[in-house]
Amino acid sequence: MIFPSEKTIEESYVPDYEKLYAQVKEDPEAFWANIAKELSWFKLWNKVIAWDYPYARWFVGGQTNIVYNALDRYQKTPIADKLAYIWEGQDGTVRKYTYRQLNEEVCRLANGLKSLGLKKGDKVSIYLPRIMEQIIAMLACAKIGLVHSVVFSGFSIEALKNRIIDAEAKTVICADGYPYKDKVIECKKNVDEAIKDLPQVEHVIIAKRAGNQITTNPGRDIWWDELITKQDTICSTEIMEATDPLFILYTSGSTGKPKGVIHSHGGYQVGTYLTLKWVFDIRSDDIWFCTADAGWITGHSYIVYGPLLNGITTFVYESVPDYPDRGKWWSLVEKYKVTKFYTAPTAIRSLMRYGDEWPKKYDLSSLKILGSVGEPINPEAWLWYYKTIGREQCPLIDTWWQTETGMFMLTPLPSSPLKPGSCNKPFFGVEADVVDANGKPVPVDTQGYLVIKTPWPSMLMDVYKNPKKYLETYFENEALNINKNNEASFSNFLYFTGDSAKKDKDGYFWIVGRNDDVIKVSGHRLGSAELESAFVAHPAVAEAAVIGKPHEIKGESIKAFVILKHGQQPTDTLKEELKKQVRTLIGPIATPDEIVFIDKLPKTRSGKIMRRVLKAQELGQPLGDTSTLEQ
Ligand code: WT7
Repeated sequence: MIFPSEKTIEESYVPDYEKLYAQVKEDPEAFWANIAKELSWFKLWNKVIAWDYPYARWFVGGQTNIVYNALDRYQKTPIADKLAYIWEGQDGTVRKYTYRQLNEEVCRLANGLKSLGLKKGDKVSIYLPRIMEQIIAMLACAKIGLVHSVVFSGFSIEALKNRIIDAEAKTVICADGYPYKDKVIECKKNVDEAIKDLPQVEHVIIAKRAGNQITTNPGRDIWWDELITKQDTICSTEIMEATDPLFILYTSGSTGKPKGVIHSHGGYQVGTYLTLKWVFDIRSDDIWFCTADAGWITGHSYIVYGPLLNGITTFVYESVPDYPDRGKWWSLVEKYKVTKFYTAPTAIRSLMRYGDEWPKKYDLSSLKILGSVGEPINPEAWLWYYKTIGREQCPLIDTWWQTETGMFMLTPLPSSPLKPGSCNKPFFGVEADVVDANGKPVPVDTQGYLVIKTPWPSMLMDVYKNPKKYLETYFENEALNINKNNEASFSNFLYFTGDSAKKDKDGYFWIVGRNDDVIKVSGHRLGSAELESAFVAHPAVAEAAVIGKPHEIKGESIKAFVILKHGQQPTDTLKEELKKQVRTLIGPIATPDEIVFIDKLPKTRSGKIMRRVLKAQELGQPLGDTSTLEQ
């Protein structure tokens, strides 16, 4: 155990976790209601929480808008002149926005969107790289009640297209292109391809970043700058019900099609506001650097909404950690005097490999708290991060959460004793446990299903257009023999996370990994079935099975077992083609590491591929229950 200093404990918002945890457990509704009152509401709620199995609705009857709390309420206070963002481009360009300037840009775009005829409830797909327009676009949508669906800029044409179709987006916001290391990624081309047969998309708004040549479709396409040039810097903020949707964010699950996770204005703002504040001990002079991209939930919650709700300054770097050189991030920490730094284990492991000389070149003494997210962090990487980056003086916060949870769920606080590799204990108002297939808690240090036993304010609202999927994934998951029809009472609440974990004798949680067919590659969430469909779309492929395999840097790597159609030759050229195919259909993050050609896949008698058996064989582990295996 690593204990925090007396000073850290004394100065933190919550010096005694156990005491407050027990207190909140007695009355979580009162706790969350009090926190919610720290934010502004057009109308207060009638009910803090309503449970209508399988939906928890927070702050019912309340009216608010997350953008009111993120921007509007500061405009007549000194925060208006404080920096909301400092952005640095890969080429060294710096852009700074005070809360006032950010608000003006958001208003101009919001007015621009209105001028295109967009109305409350309409969906907008945002396919932008890590530039300020990405953040401005999200806020402009939310301000006027449009539902944003951000698609990570690394996703390919097909992935983008499917997300635009599912979200029924009428407008797409993109860039001309963007620099990525020494290349220019021509992302507008992807948009043109993706929507060429989609009449639903009436407008494409193009932000200028790379200045590359693009083709524009008159009547449909409009430059961002032209759209906003005549727009007013004042725009009224739409009054939203607390339970109105704020965004849809697609994430992979166990089936081929990504799920559209919906989050609300009301509950989501309360959850992200408080978790960031207490977990990273947010103070008004903080310089916050979260290395994620707003294309993922980490960026939504902790680059955009959480930091703005706390009125702090966020630093954003456009590019990757090791470009132009391997010390880039550390140089940025020094240059901007970053105080709180939040990143993913993959990045830590690769930067650790480059050696201590890179961080040693820079003054990292501004850092006060370090964070990690996205996948389990191995103790070796944890210790390196803690010692070399944190000089053994910064609490290292390993936050466990999900796209669906919207906010940190299992996490240390700055005042918590730490165990390298453990994500510590549940946040206030959150009850978590590790259970067996019958929902019974397993003994100490035993692996089981990680479940959440209480609803929390930023819990997903639903899966867009697929309530059945919502029910069957999170509440009536086939892995559990319980939880069916657990109707009205909260005492039966059991949210299935899809993760396996252990709890130790001190009540600390240790995440083992996913127990469904989700693969975590460099912290990115991919579904086996999604990858398999990309393989099968190739004319030479008859069948494919994909598994995740432990990988030293990336956490997991992708291995594919492919059965070719009769007469196809298993050549290296074909392997390369297949890799390319997956990159084209999903994106570079999904590039398979290994492909093997085989003749037969282990299947159940009903014909389902048993990936579990393939994985056990691959790792030389016992095969487990194979009674359903077809011989
Ligand atoms: C899955 C959710 C939440 C932001 C980024 C990922 C894994 C997340 C941790 C952690 C071990 C973690 C889980 C989870 N995960 N954080 N601190 N330790 N595993 O969001 O893409 O929705 O993925 O990421 O497996 O279920 P996501």
